[in-house]
Amino acid sequence: METFQTILAKRLSDALIAAGLPHAAELTPATDPRFGDYQTNAALVLGKERSENPKILAAKILTQFDVGDLCDPPTVAGAGFINFTLRADAIARKAGEVLRNERLGVAKAKSTRRIVIDFGSPNVAKPMHVGHIRSTALGDALARIAQFLGHEVIRDNHVGDWGTQFGMVIYGWKNLLDREALQRDPLAEIVRIYKETNERSAKDPQVGEACRRELVKLQAGDRENVRIWNECVAFSMQDFDHIYKLLDIHYDIQCGESFYNDRLPGVVDRLLKSGVAEISEGAVVVFFRDIPELADKPCIVRKRDGGFNYATTDLATVDYRINDLKADGIWYVVGAPQILHFKQIFAIARREGYSADLRHITFGSILRADRKIMKTRSGENVPLRDLLEEACKRARKIIEEKNPDLSETDKIDIAQKIGIGAIKYFDLSQYRMTDYVFSWEKMLSLQGNTAPYLQNAYVRIRSIFRKAGESAPNIGNLILKSPAEINLAKRLCQFAEVVPQVLNDFRPNILANYLFELANSFHAFYETCQVLKLEEPARSSRLALCDLAGRVLQRGLDLLGIKVPEKM
Ligand code: ARG
Repeated sequence: METFQTILAKRLSDALIAAGLPHAAELTPATDPRFGDYQTNAALVLGKERSENPKILAAKILTQFDVGDLCDPPTVAGAGFINFTLRADAIARKAGEVLRNERLGVAKAKSTRRIVIDFGSPNVAKPMHVGHIRSTALGDALARIAQFLGHEVIRDNHVGDWGTQFGMVIYGWKNLLDREALQRDPLAEIVRIYKETNERSAKDPQVGEACRRELVKLQAGDRENVRIWNECVAFSMQDFDHIYKLLDIHYDIQCGESFYNDRLPGVVDRLLKSGVAEISEGAVVVFFRDIPELADKPCIVRKRDGGFNYATTDLATVDYRINDLKADGIWYVVGAPQILHFKQIFAIARREGYSADLRHITFGSILRADRKIMKTRSGENVPLRDLLEEACKRARKIIEEKNPDLSETDKIDIAQKIGIGAIKYFDLSQYRMTDYVFSWEKMLSLQGNTAPYLQNAYVRIRSIFRKAGESAPNIGNLILKSPAEINLAKRLCQFAEVVPQVLNDFRPNILANYLFELANSFHAFYETCQVLKLEEPARSSRLALCDLAGRVLQRGLDLLGIKVPEKM
């Protein structure tokens, strides 16, 4: 299905050709709704290029611009902007099309690709903390949106299940483990022995040495140590899975760092053979002498002692994803501290001749009210599990006040949808690069740009249908008369324009903000327009509009990984 924007853009390009001014020009939503719904700066761009008066060019373009079936006569404003205002009957027709369209008008991408999305990727033997929300929620939303647009998505959890910390974990396991505590809360006990070993080895070099020996034994495949390592990984994964269930996060594959261990020597051999890497002071190193920002930042792929690095694993990962999984693109949803790392990895991959589209999608931090990185009072990371449980608890309090008669099962279910939704939405509704201050009050507010506000708009729509005792009417065309309903219908037609935009710069906040505006438009409609008491055919038309608003809200929130309750 075509959107107003695609239709007008096509007509613009035809008009430019017909006017003898062929040019690639942009047609965008109007920046100021007072001037219309869409605009183009084509005449301005052409005017500059040809040193001609843009207003005269605009008039010339308009003589060839045939939009009478969609818009009022276009106007020229300012220095030469052409503005378009949609007509109510055109909006009614388009909204009718969207109404009958299962995808709500959203077309699949013209060229679809196979994309591996590497997101979440927590480290084993540490609990997931509040910082993991960003990568997890953002990666999941991008995966959902890419999939909806027709791309083939492989969601990969690149868990940190290998590395020097295991020397300490194994030493702690052998010397400090409390079996009962392990039974009670395995991950907490693993974290405890790891921390305690860490402290001991800082004080006592002999402990540090013993940890290194355990690590070497693990790397050499020692049976006992591999068994302990396996157990620790399994306990951690159980803990992650519990959180993923709460968050409704799914992975297609979970190839952690250890998955690539056998491939690391091959990676280094290949890099040496092709000359991408060289031996320098006993280590195998890639230099980037031709890339100014990396010129003094070489990447060590094999240390002098023969050990491999995080970077070596990521190079094996690129190879696996492109050659084995046949990915055309890899998106890494990983925080800004790893920008340098991924610049190096991408530069090496390009030198090796990989042409897949590699993207590092970064994000800012979550802060406390004092604008410091969010930590507990004792300076520890805030465990994600506690945070999610608190969100559900707080959401429950809100619904108990709002609707005390709900059954216990409903309360649990709705509290989870609202609590988890609030945390995800608060994150996704911000531009990903900005830091934000975590605030329960703001994210759980029933007013403003929050998940509960959007969920409440959906619930209000569902209650209209419950009251009516009927489902959405099957109608051919909408009848749009009052400004509020025209405005709502227009917004609903925009969904198809907004969703694909998210992937331009990986910004789910564009979709979130659209949904917020949609909910506002719905409320404005609901306050000024009657629905159930109306006569036919207006009643059915408005019911259909309500139904469409509900479906778009539900689908839009679903694309952000957020569920809607039927009541709250
Ligand atoms: N486990 C890493 C960390 O916590 C993130 C891994 C990101 N993915 C990757 N392919 N390097 O920092």
